[in-house]
Amino acid sequence: MRQWPRRRRINCILVTGGAGYIGSHICVELLEAGFQLIVLDNLSNSSQQSLKRVEVITDKELTFYQMDLTDKVAVTSVFESHSIDAVIHLAGLKAVSESCELPLKYYQNNINSTLVLLELMAQFSVNKLVFSSSATVYGEPEKMPVDETFPLAATNPYGRTKLMIEDIIRDVCQVTALNTVLLRYFNPAGAHKSGLIGEDPNGIPNNLLPYVAQVAVGKREKVSVFGDDYPTKDGTGVRDYIHVVDLAKGHLQALQAMDEDREIGQCKVFNLGTGQGYSVLDVIKGFEKASGQKVDYQLTARRSGDIAECYANVSLANEKLHWHAEKSLDEMLEDAWRWQTMNPEGYSND
Ligand code: NAD
Ligand code: UD1
Repeated sequence: MRQWPRRRRINCILVTGGAGYIGSHICVELLEAGFQLIVLDNLSNSSQQSLKRVEVITDKELTFYQMDLTDKVAVTSVFESHSIDAVIHLAGLKAVSESCELPLKYYQNNINSTLVLLELMAQFSVNKLVFSSSATVYGEPEKMPVDETFPLAATNPYGRTKLMIEDIIRDVCQVTALNTVLLRYFNPAGAHKSGLIGEDPNGIPNNLLPYVAQVAVGKREKVSVFGDDYPTKDGTGVRDYIHVVDLAKGHLQALQAMDEDREIGQCKVFNLGTGQGYSVLDVIKGFEKASGQKVDYQLTARRSGDIAECYANVSLANEKLHWHAEKSLDEMLEDAWRWQTMNPEGYSND
């Protein structure tokens, strides 16, 4: 990965949703790279403790606003108070099943917050944006690996908000000076190696990794493996798990490409994954090895809306962002285990 040049034009970065799982890891990387950070989060799915720990890890300070991004008056005051050079926009609701039950909540929150942000960025001439999109926008891809030119189709309201936001941003980029990098994350996993920050889901985890971690630590009895009759090597679903620190570094590379005015296009999209697929059983076995604990599981029916396999072609990000994932599945699982054992109740013990 390329180092930032000594001179750079981006100094102050606004991170929306920065107290969350991925946002807190991005904050560590940004502070360590010497940026000034403004974090805006309503803490609807996170805790300010994550940011306090970011400051401990980096021995640097950031500015935090507990604020809802849909509140235009409040957010205007943040833009007035700081000379923001670029925005990383992570704020959003992300639970697929909840989005099916409460679609309006998802459209209201995810779309309106983005509209407020884009309006204020235009008003204050902030022209650099990195947006957290998802592999979910590929729907059910016909072949693997998935590259950025594949057709887009969301299968649930959460995914549709991502697609709509991508479209809104593309439209704005057509007619304004806005430069955007849309990053389509595959399956973020793991935690910072310090064990101080990590994924802290509310209630029963929907995603595989936090569920497996909670079984290993004894909080839950066994993992339900959703389907063992997929056309994959062992019949279980295959995904492209990417270490959250590698993912965070992808954001720095995206900012750097924009900072250097490298020819990546005014609204460019990149997959962030490893390009490697692992099955549910690979993850369970790997977690047993990383933790030294038995992870009990039972085979159950497929989860509705799931696809057999999904992994990325990451050559575009390799080439244009000079980025590639460096950490292995074993490292993700070891780091997830360290976080889980050091924080069995997440941030709620602080
Ligand atoms: P997260 O829930 O931990 O972080 C999102 C943060 O946004 C939370 O801290 C939440 O409090 C905040 N937020 C939500 N609505 C807000 C609002 N209206 N105003 C201010 N803050 C608000 O989730 P994460 O896993 O860190 O995901 C970050 C982003 O990446 C999300 O946009 C998510 O859709 C996207 N993404 C996540 C994954 C994943 O597997 N974790 C995969 C693909 C894309
Ligand atoms: C899910 C979301 C997707 C979102 C992504 C990241 C669905 C249908 N899709 O994707 O929109 O972008 O999370 O947040 O929810 N599994 C089990 N047992 C479990 C949990 C999962 O067997 O308890 C399996 C799944 O069937 C899948 C794999 O593990 O094969 C990974 O699941 P998960 O972590 O939920 O991620 P995705 O399904 O890729």
